[in-house]
Amino acid sequence: MLILLLACAVPTGWTPAERATIASLSPIPAPLPSPTNRVADDPAAARLGEALFFDAGLSIDGKTACATCHVPGLHFTDGKRFPTAIGTGTRNTPSLETVAWGTWFFWDGRSDSVWAQATGPMRDAKEMGATPEHIQARLREAHATGLSEVFGGVAEDPTDAMVQAGKALEAYQRTLAPKPARFDRYAADLAAGTDSDVLTAEEKAGLRLFVGEATCVSCHHGPLFTDHSFHNLGLPSIPDGGIDPGRARGAGQVGVDALNCRSAHADRPADLAADAEPCPELRYLDASFPDWAAAFKTPSLRNVAETAPYMHDGQFGSLAAVLAFYDTLPGRPLVGHRELTLEPLALSGAEIEALEAFLRTLTSEAPAAPASP
Ligand code: HEC
Ligand code: HEC
Repeated sequence: MLILLLACAVPTGWTPAERATIASLSPIPAPLPSPTNRVADDPAAARLGEALFFDAGLSIDGKTACATCHVPGLHFTDGKRFPTAIGTGTRNTPSLETVAWGTWFFWDGRSDSVWAQATGPMRDAKEMGATPEHIQARLREAHATGLSEVFGGVAEDPTDAMVQAGKALEAYQRTLAPKPARFDRYAADLAAGTDSDVLTAEEKAGLRLFVGEATCVSCHHGPLFTDHSFHNLGLPSIPDGGIDPGRARGAGQVGVDALNCRSAHADRPADLAADAEPCPELRYLDASFPDWAAAFKTPSLRNVAETAPYMHDGQFGSLAAVLAFYDTLPGRPLVGHRELTLEPLALSGAEIEALEAFLRTLTSEAPAAPASP
């Protein structure tokens, strides 16, 4: 009798394998530790990082802040194909909401920490155009109190001062986790044994495709909907005729980055034995790995309906365009080879609409801009 009752409580719509996959996509876990940044989870560092994030004074012309391109109300993207600040970039601005779970940063993974990443845009000639000396002067002028609270003062060496700014910026960005979405409420109901109507029948059909026939979950997996890895999708258009080598170049760059996790600027992880080598994974990076030619990082799909345009070069203006691409996989990549596991999906119009409807259930409330930037 008990067995019968239990059997009735279990939703009949999903197979056990599907239910296990859906359970693996929610809830959003606590951030992973950031072992090379001692202040990564210090609330005072996060407050300082927030002030820095909105401070255009860090840029050489005083006009561009991180928040100019990473707009809170747009889930930290900018709604443009390419950002324009001092110059115009060649890659699309990604969301920052899932950096606390990442391992490699930028579309090509050329940084191995969020703090080292932050020093990139500050110095990039097309973005904020600053030098370490300019950053150090701005920290002394406008953020001295925060710096003394968190680090005991602004470092004497300009590069060290820039790294302090990066570490505080990381602490702030680690607080930007996406809020639970409607999908998470459904997944929680399902885990508790109820196939609830928090998702519509169409959205559930899209979810079934996502975890099944459409194989999206093979790359967009886990609660952040990413494998944190790099793939060449064989995208049809190459902007301005330029070829972007993606991970093939990024893997080479991170190994020699003066601010990587083996550098003197990285805090030594507290739990690392005295004779242990920090971040041994860097030694095994092989930039000539053929699958990395024109491969880019799998983006999270949390809040994806709010962050158009899409892909590393913003070539698709809508989710419908992204799905049309996966459906037909037109053309051949000009560089490298398309991920071998990808096959045209050849779905019906209704199935494509269901997939899009499911992706929209990953939307949560956008963060508000701070009252006093
Ligand atoms: C001019 C626009 C612009 C500005 C200003 C800017 N960013 Fe970005 N950000 C981008 C673009 C574009 C990328 C992707 C670049 C690439 O992959 O080569 C990016 C990538 C990132 C990433 C990597 C995310 C990931 O998942 O890999 C982080 C983190 C980030 N920015 C934080 C910041 C911070 C912190 C600042 C301020 C110090 C900042 N950005 C300033 C446009 C901008
Ligand atoms: C082989 C791994 C892989 C599979 C399978 C895959 N994706 Fe992706 N997805 C990626 C990568 C990598 C990118 C970024 C590619 C680039 O910019 O060059 C991406 C980008 C996207 C984007 C754009 C997100 C953004 O912020 O720009 C969406 C939306 C998306 N995928 C949805 C899906 C859906 C839906 C499926 C199933 C139909 C799917 N993906 C299957 C790896 C994959």
